[in-house]
Amino acid sequence: MSSSGSRQTSGPPSPDPGPPASVPDYEERAAALLPRTIFEYYSGGAGDEWTLRENRAAFERWVLRPRVLVDVADRDPATTVLGSPVSFPVLVAPTAFQRMAHPDGELATARAAASAGTVMVLSTIASASMEDVAAEAPEGRRWFQLYIHRDRGLTADLVARAEAAGFGVLVLTVDTPLLGLRDRDTRNRFSLPPGIELANLARSLPEVEGSALFAYMAERHDPSVTWDDLEWVRTLSGLPLVLKGVVRADDAGRAVDAGVDGLVVSNHGGRQLDGTVAAIDALPEVVEAVAGRVEVLLDGGVRRGSDVLRALALGARAVLVGRPVLWGLAVAGEAGVRHVLDLLRAELDVAMAIAGCRAVGEVDGDLVARSPRRGDAQAR
Ligand SMILES: Cc1cc2nc3c(=O)[nH]c(=O)nc-3n(C[C@H](O)[C@H](O)[C@H](O)COP(=O)(O)O)c2cc1C
Repeated sequence: MSSSGSRQTSGPPSPDPGPPASVPDYEERAAALLPRTIFEYYSGGAGDEWTLRENRAAFERWVLRPRVLVDVADRDPATTVLGSPVSFPVLVAPTAFQRMAHPDGELATARAAASAGTVMVLSTIASASMEDVAAEAPEGRRWFQLYIHRDRGLTADLVARAEAAGFGVLVLTVDTPLLGLRDRDTRNRFSLPPGIELANLARSLPEVEGSALFAYMAERHDPSVTWDDLEWVRTLSGLPLVLKGVVRADDAGRAVDAGVDGLVVSNHGGRQLDGTVAAIDALPEVVEAVAGRVEVLLDGGVRRGSDVLRALALGARAVLVGRPVLWGLAVAGEAGVRHVLDLLRAELDVAMAIAGCRAVGEVDGDLVARSPRRGDAQAR
């Protein structure tokens, strides 16, 4: 008997929704598939989730100004990021515990990113170890995200292992002296399902009343880190160093003066301090302060190829996507992540063509403007 034959036949069978056509389609399907606690950990943000919403809303306040009658018959969105060639300027952001979305977790993501021709950034608190991830993707396709622990020996060991395993860039996350307060995780007493651990550290999370991840980070991660520690981080390896989580011109300038090799403009996907400026709105001041001395990346709210185009026009070298990858993973593992990346590449390709750009080098600041409706939005 077909599965539909066992159902009530009071109405016509629900139409086949077809394959997901966009990142929002993937999110909708992931929401239906994942246990609520896990979906809320992935999708949620800090506090009232204003910054989470604002990361998206802010993209809509930057309008595109396509140039017409340009020969765009031959196009190529390939570029390089910190020297790594990528087939298009979208990288995979570090997100923790990907095995909650799919049993293959970070291993599937690494394969999908490599086959799509881009870079995956692996989280310190991944649910697959960096050595196992390294076996899935060639060098040049993976970077390592670092959290500085109170135990500096452990921190140094993480960096040494990442370098030995062939991760090409160190991405130091600097927006997380403490984990942001995420009400959904507190209410859900978020902790890891059985069988999932912090694989790089061979640890599980503590048993506590509220969010186990908040408690873990407060205990183990070092909230006393300052600019003075950057020099120490640099001594741990020969890897290029990128700071992730900068939203201010003064911090950006100071980071460049301190010798970092790149910056990620990011508010951690709205998961840290609610009320923080949207990532895309912080981008122009950071780009101006950096003045071309290092590459500037952006993450937070990128869901469409046209968002990537806006970020490039505002001066980003590339963007990273966090949740879209988790939705792809939840829906179809490696193939789902690959499809999400392919959808973003196809959307960017069409957006570039219609905007009159054959290559990312032709995307300039004149392609975007603040929306004429921006004032309306602010007055509300
Ligand atoms: C579930 C989840 C886990 C994350 N874990 C980390 C992490 O371990 N390290 C880190 O630097 N950023 C982490 N982030 C932040 C992402 O790297 C990135 O800044 C953010 O997801 C970008 O926003 P987007 O999800 O709207 O694309 C996490 C984000 C999510 C959604």
